[in-house]
Amino acid sequence: MTKSMKKAIALCLFSMGVVGLMAQSNEFKIDVQKTGAPIQSTMYGIFFEDINYGADGGLYAELVKNRSFEFENPFGGWTPFGNVSVQTQKPCFDRNPHYVRLSYEKELTGTGLDNEGFNGIGIREGEKYDFSLYARTRSGDAPVKLRINLVDSRNDLYEQKEIEVSGKEWKKYTVVLTPGATEARSRLRITMVTKGIVDLEHISLFPQKTFNNRPNGMRADLAQALKELKPGVFRFPGGCIVEGTNKATRYQWKNTVGPVENRPININRWNYTFSHKKFPDYYQSCGLGFFEYFLLSEDIGAEPLPVLNCGLSCQYENQDPNENCPVDKLQPYIDDALDLIEFANGSATSEWGKIRADMGHPAPFNLKLIAIGNEQWGPLYPERLELFVKAIRAKYPEIKIIGSSGPQSEGEDFDYLWPEMRRLKVDLVDEHFYRSPEWFLNGAKRYDSYDRQGPKVFAGEYACHSVNRENSFLTALCEAAFMTGFERNADVVCLCTYAPLFAHVDAWQWRPDLIWFDNLSLVKTPNYYVQQLYGHNAGTNVVPLTMQGEPVTGQLDLYATAAVDKHSDELIIKVANTGIRNKRIKLNLNGLSAGKHKGTLTLLHSSDLEAKNTLCNPSTVVPLVSDIEVEAPQGEVNLRPLSFSVYRIKL
Ligand code: AHR
Repeated sequence: MTKSMKKAIALCLFSMGVVGLMAQSNEFKIDVQKTGAPIQSTMYGIFFEDINYGADGGLYAELVKNRSFEFENPFGGWTPFGNVSVQTQKPCFDRNPHYVRLSYEKELTGTGLDNEGFNGIGIREGEKYDFSLYARTRSGDAPVKLRINLVDSRNDLYEQKEIEVSGKEWKKYTVVLTPGATEARSRLRITMVTKGIVDLEHISLFPQKTFNNRPNGMRADLAQALKELKPGVFRFPGGCIVEGTNKATRYQWKNTVGPVENRPININRWNYTFSHKKFPDYYQSCGLGFFEYFLLSEDIGAEPLPVLNCGLSCQYENQDPNENCPVDKLQPYIDDALDLIEFANGSATSEWGKIRADMGHPAPFNLKLIAIGNEQWGPLYPERLELFVKAIRAKYPEIKIIGSSGPQSEGEDFDYLWPEMRRLKVDLVDEHFYRSPEWFLNGAKRYDSYDRQGPKVFAGEYACHSVNRENSFLTALCEAAFMTGFERNADVVCLCTYAPLFAHVDAWQWRPDLIWFDNLSLVKTPNYYVQQLYGHNAGTNVVPLTMQGEPVTGQLDLYATAAVDKHSDELIIKVANTGIRNKRIKLNLNGLSAGKHKGTLTLLHSSDLEAKNTLCNPSTVVPLVSDIEVEAPQGEVNLRPLSFSVYRIKL
């Protein structure tokens, strides 16, 4: 944002404040005895999409790019040297048939291949990495020795192990690498050290230390950052990725379960979606597939919320009607939804439950929510969704179904879809907003006037963006203000998930995003901290908070909401002060015993609206916690300019 814009927003907010100050008494009236709508434990969640190298190259801890040689260019991510060819005869894995053949029959001058990882391979000194590959030689040949190296960015070797491949049958070989240096951009090198011919397939390098030490697991620091949000719900795997650009590239969950080696890859639509930001090496290995998503949900304590394709390709990208599934041919798509519920919840002896059990999770995942369709619009969508709803209701009446209101936060498509969702009696309607600071501030009132009957709201993707779409304190503050409207209307809004989650600093297509990372570290944005403050301070029930009889939705530049937490017996007040003036606010606390009440204040503040956290300066905007005492029934708080404050007061 330019300086003049920043000034304009601040002045605009300030002028609203001046008018407010003249007209109103600045007292928050809170009644903790009037316990209102329950706040769902799922309320504050997260949305994951494989965009910005969020999965391969990010959360999914595999370090080798194109490990199965299945990219359109089978050598994508690899630099072969010497005599290396791509083969498909008698493959090791039928759904990933490409492999490489290294032939070294004359002079020992070097045959092998390097893998570049995802913008390099991030390796830490002293940590253990499992290297593995599938290999075979020719019948009757002597064993072939391979050297496995980690090479730093100056091409110096700093870890070396050997593997001996023998026999004409495919076998898995493993060796542990323990690098002697920390490097963000190393490469993996495999070289033949004895003569012969050797076939190699599914070459993998995985840190032993993954989140919760899961095999085929998640990068520990990134998954830990998700857990620290205390998310109530985990929406996956997209986003537009669910739709695909055409039928062939849509996300098909059944391709993402079972042994990782035999999961067919899919081109990632963010490979080519933006002409100014193309990533020809962006594919989905599907190593992070639906089993792993469910497991991660469990590991971070969030309800899983899978999104499935409804029979439509991305309507932005593809207007070819042949790329949509005709309504009378939708059964396989509907079966995908029914089978997914069985995969998640069915007994270990059911067809799909058995696959889950064989993958190591005999207990059900206890799926309660399913979304059909992402950002669809027009009659094409409800006519398909209707068939899904009928089939799911008939077989699994306990599952809550989420429909979509399209890609816009309002307007023709939105106005068409909401009544359609009511007609279809879906349980929740997914709304998406990527909008300006002004829109977010005005949006704090959005749900105050929503119909209390019919489907509830799932704010499934939202992020405030300023002109250059960078994460900043300004956007975080506006999101904090906007989210007071979610909480105040917890009888209507049951779930919300910021979007998207991750972005690699060297390979992103879309911003803003909650967490930025490189190959070794991450940075939590100010927006992350707002989400975290809501997640950690959700409360169990809304209680009324008013100023002059009205909810606080911008008067004096303030946005506020209150809840009680019945478990900890606390009152929780959240206030965003978007003005540039300090505000002393009287508290009229009905229902609290007279006297001093102890508590804490968590403050997210910056005097610079453009303040950002970066990998080099990750703590420019971070929450600070202090102890407080509040007098009841009449108390006072001091709200710093440009701040988001969360008070927890012992009842
Ligand atoms: O999160 C990025 C994209 O934004 C999602 O894929 C899509 O649903 C929305 O348009």
